[in-house]
Amino acid sequence: MFSKKQKNVIIDDRLKHIAFIMDGNGRWAKKRLLPRMVGHKYGAQNFKNIVKYCFEMGIESVTTYAFSTENWSRPQAEIDSIINLLKEYIEVVKQEEKVRIIFIGDKSNLPSDLARIMIEAEEITMGREKKLYIAFNYGGRAEIVNACNSLIAEGKTKVTESDISSHMYTAEAPDPDLIIRTAGEYRISNFLLWQCAYSEFYFAEVFWPDFDKKELMKAIENFYTRKRRFGGLNKDEE
Ligand code: IPE
Ligand code: IPE
Ligand code: MG
Repeated sequence: MFSKKQKNVIIDDRLKHIAFIMDGNGRWAKKRLLPRMVGHKYGAQNFKNIVKYCFEMGIESVTTYAFSTENWSRPQAEIDSIINLLKEYIEVVKQEEKVRIIFIGDKSNLPSDLARIMIEAEEITMGREKKLYIAFNYGGRAEIVNACNSLIAEGKTKVTESDISSHMYTAEAPDPDLIIRTAGEYRISNFLLWQCAYSEFYFAEVFWPDFDKKELMKAIENFYTRKRRFGGLNKDEE
């Protein structure tokens, strides 16, 4: 059973969607004189745990940045190890009861077996309660261009913000309320450029494999201290 209460933090409608930029796997490994791939392995294990905690706490949608359109510039062996970890996770999530998996990013230029496995997992998990978006071969700029091209193909000659929002890969989820990046980097790296317009950002110093439940709770507690204004004023500020 998913319970909404966790320690002192009660997840409410202010926090429906958390997105993670899971950074620092390589440095985590390097610090231990291990190959980068080992960092990805521990990173993947941590990803499983964190996704589980988020859903147990009552978060409705989780997005994780697993592989960017720019990450293809890495050594092939590292890319292969990340793809293998993704395939292993897909097998795990298929057995889950409540997690629906949605891949965001361009599937058209992925190895065909991988694209097939991804689509199959999306179909098998369709209709489940909790939405897990995995950004793989994802770029925020590419996503916006893709949305515009879809609108042109539909015959639009003029578009609105809601047209673009509804053609984003994450159209079914509200924009992320909170975006967490680990490993002490303070940048967006082409992630959810459209959707992050009013997201709250939280930066953790720890590398992703060390971002545990305690770190997650720290981020969530910090989120609940924020005053979100969306350009307006809150009641007590009028
Ligand atoms: C994040 O960790 C995972 C991916 C980008 C695939 P990194 O591999 O970027 O780790 P660092 O930033 O080099 O330490
Ligand atoms: C962002 O991390 C992408 C993922 C976490 C998948 P990077 O490690 O690729 O980002 P940069 O290169 O440091 O900006
Ligand atoms: Mg990195």
